[in-house]
Amino acid sequence: QTLDLELSQIEKGGFPHFTLKEIFEQPKSLRDAMRGRINAEKNHLVLGGLIEYQQKLINADRIIILGCGTSWHAGLVGEYLFEEFARIPVEVEYASEFRYRNPVIREGDVVIAISQSGETADTLAAVELAKSKGAIIFGVCNVVGSSIPRATHAGAYIHAGPEIGVASTKAFTGQITVLTMMALIIGRAKGTITESKFQELITELTTIPDKVEYILHKVDSQIKYIAEEFKGARNFLYLGRGFNFPVALEGALKLKEISYIHAEGYPAAEMKHGPIALIDENMPVVFIAPKDSTYEKIVSNVQEIKARKGRIIAVVNEGDKEIKDLAEFTIEIPQTHEAFSPILTVIPLQLLSYYIATHLVDDVDKPRNLAKSVTVE
Ligand code: G6P
Repeated sequence: QTLDLELSQIEKGGFPHFTLKEIFEQPKSLRDAMRGRINAEKNHLVLGGLIEYQQKLINADRIIILGCGTSWHAGLVGEYLFEEFARIPVEVEYASEFRYRNPVIREGDVVIAISQSGETADTLAAVELAKSKGAIIFGVCNVVGSSIPRATHAGAYIHAGPEIGVASTKAFTGQITVLTMMALIIGRAKGTITESKFQELITELTTIPDKVEYILHKVDSQIKYIAEEFKGARNFLYLGRGFNFPVALEGALKLKEISYIHAEGYPAAEMKHGPIALIDENMPVVFIAPKDSTYEKIVSNVQEIKARKGRIIAVVNEGDKEIKDLAEFTIEIPQTHEAFSPILTVIPLQLLSYYIATHLVDDVDKPRNLAKSVTVE
């Protein structure tokens, strides 16, 4: 038994849990996701696994993205990415809903299936269904040789390495990174982004792993402190807009999964259609509010929460003033292109859930009732 214990300690690489280890591995896993694929100096971006069917994506009239859980959230970010860079309309579907409807799949539709494990039963069944209707399917998966990559026509692995913690962390940022690379390749080929813009974007994308590393070290102890402050809360609200709306959903999911605290993610503007009724002095509200095209709008949302005495925690860019004046806690992260910001903004939210969970839950890596890969319906 002592041997077992020591072995698991070694596997965790000095971290108390796999979840924390995997959060801290993200600078490396993101570098691995881009390795051999991007070379900013040479203005080069290639995903080898896509080449054979790349033209299908370039000509796609519509993209349908399928996934479950965190992978579905990555898909939502993908929707914004493909629309922004490649000007292709996107629908993001829960695989479990898609497979039991009678989905309309037309010629010219391309399906992207996202799955960390590559084994999720609903996603696999949705892939088979789309295939039977003649769709071309790309996989964005982590586990090499798993069922979904084998069932798809083409794909790109995220190369995040084994993810053991049940709550997905490094797979989420890896999935977004691969979707970003896909959208940029397609956008460049279609001419929906200019060559100079493309160069600028891939140069910025290659700085993301360093920025993640910087954030992890900068905010870690601050977030431990915030977690201590909020560990007694029974509810949380997460609000974001645009590219960071899916991050609000993901932040809330992380908290539910590992700390058993009820949390909801919402697009910040939708708050007035319901959740605002929940706001009082006991309600923590996490805003994801980097300085992007929706910033001024989100400042008003912060004011609305403040007026109702909600407790505001905000993820903002370094140097932010407006939200800093309003929030109880601000977590500062570096600036990036707005389309890449989810990879940065989600990091503090992963840490927040983790540190809150350590106060409340026995084994953060294996939360009750959840499985790492759901191979049954
Ligand atoms: C389970 C896991 C989640 C994961 C989801 C989809 O619910 O606990 O962390 O996001 O399945 O898994 P997949 O392997 O398809 O990404």
